[in-house]
Amino acid sequence: MSNLEQTLSIIKPDAVERNLDREIKEIFTHKGFNIVKEKKIQITKPEAEQFYKVHETKPFYNDLCAYLSSGPIVVMILEKENAVLANREIMGATNPKEAKEGTIRKKFGISIDKNSVHGSDSVDNAKIEINFFFKD
Ligand code: CMP
Repeated sequence: MSNLEQTLSIIKPDAVERNLDREIKEIFTHKGFNIVKEKKIQITKPEAEQFYKVHETKPFYNDLCAYLSSGPIVVMILEKENAVLANREIMGATNPKEAKEGTIRKKFGISIDKNSVHGSDSVDNAKIEINFFFKD
């Protein structure tokens, strides 16, 4: 049965700064994702705090929000069959050191903070995160 989904992807400041956004987008399109919408923006720290609110009790929350708001990012709505899981597979483990060969974080990630990409972790969160960046 078909299960067309949308998920939110962010190309983080470390990757945009190294001009990797085109290469990362090509990885997604070669894997069969349709980039439905995209924009390059820079968000404020309060906006990052709202976006990552699920992590507000974590010790890394402040650094994480400072980092996401530290430079331009590319936010995208990706669409494909089972897009949420497929995106998580192509991104690889959160910590690039643990990411499998062939994944985006293995290839481009610098550290657990500068791990080049974010992707929604569930269908419900994908809807919330897509709405956060693309309200209209
Ligand atoms: P992301 O998928 O964007 O979701 C939250 C981010 O927090 C995660 O990627 C990491 O970049 C960052 N982070 C920093 N430290 C940790 C940690 N110890 N565990 C999980 N995520 C972390």
